[in-house]
Amino acid sequence: DAFRHDVVTAALAPSIRPRRLRQSAAMRRLVSETDLRPRHLVLPLFVREGLEHPQPIASMPGVQQHSLDSLRRIVAEAAQAGLGGVMLFGVPATRDAIGSGATDPDGILNVATRAIVAEVGDALVVQTDLCLDEFTDHGHCGVLDARGHVDNDATLQRYTAMAIAQAEAGSHLLGLSGMMDGQTAAVRAALDAAGHTDVALLAYSAKYASAFYGPFRDAVESQLTGDRRTYQLDPANGREGVREALLDLDEGADIVMVKPALAYLDVLRQVADRSTVPVWAYMVSGEYAMIAAAAQNGWLDGDRAQLEGLVSIRRAGADVVLSYAALDLVQKGLVS
Ligand code: PBG
Repeated sequence: DAFRHDVVTAALAPSIRPRRLRQSAAMRRLVSETDLRPRHLVLPLFVREGLEHPQPIASMPGVQQHSLDSLRRIVAEAAQAGLGGVMLFGVPATRDAIGSGATDPDGILNVATRAIVAEVGDALVVQTDLCLDEFTDHGHCGVLDARGHVDNDATLQRYTAMAIAQAEAGSHLLGLSGMMDGQTAAVRAALDAAGHTDVALLAYSAKYASAFYGPFRDAVESQLTGDRRTYQLDPANGREGVREALLDLDEGADIVMVKPALAYLDVLRQVADRSTVPVWAYMVSGEYAMIAAAAQNGWLDGDRAQLEGLVSIRRAGADVVLSYAALDLVQKGLVS
């Protein structure tokens, strides 16, 4: 008989069985490779000048523009929940060509930072977005030259002034998200010269020109027309993301970041493999909103999808992840 019953029978009873390690919740817990704890999460928060009550953001279900009072309350909750930190974004009432509100000690972001640092002290790390786009009337991350192009070196002058204003307001960690060449070195030198040697720098090193920032632009009422492709990275380029991270390491970044996260896990892995400092990732507004919108339609389980994204980002090499779902997931007991 040419039919080898013995071979078929053996093949029908494999001796190598990976499912053995998946058979019970206890076994799965024991072999789980990737932890997600509250300390691995940073909550981005928007504070709008002149608001009396928090204002929902239509494109980001569950996320709000905060008043100073509601900001204080949610930061206290974030501290209570054990989150690693909060990242503050300011939405000013008025804007101009150079983003004056960013460097004004009475500008909304600096006022909010002072209020929050007074509130939470050392319970979590208070972080501030260091970029001009929320404060400029043209919506770009820098100042423009006579031709209307973003002027790199003139922008560095604004960033250094902004860094000092944020340090004086008490920010612990500055998030350099503007993608200007040399911004990390310029800001580090300015802070050190002003005696702010303790203020740490998070460089948004590999920040891609992404459609996934769409809802964020609503959240900050962005004035941008056009795009940011002359300063943010081309989604097609992986090596360039690694290069930006290595440059930021040379320039003195304390932490480097890849952003967005889910569409760039390969870049995140490469940066994580080569970095000598912590590597973070930002699960951005559009990544949050896609899941929230699908969940509202009953098309998927929103909490599980947010968690799966966060665990995958950690697995790809991120030490910490910025997520709009951070506090909600901890408060629901899904991250502990
Ligand atoms: C710049 C900044 C942006 C985001 C974080 N910092 C917007 C941009 O580059 O257009 C996007 C974050 C998100 O989409 O959640 N201030």
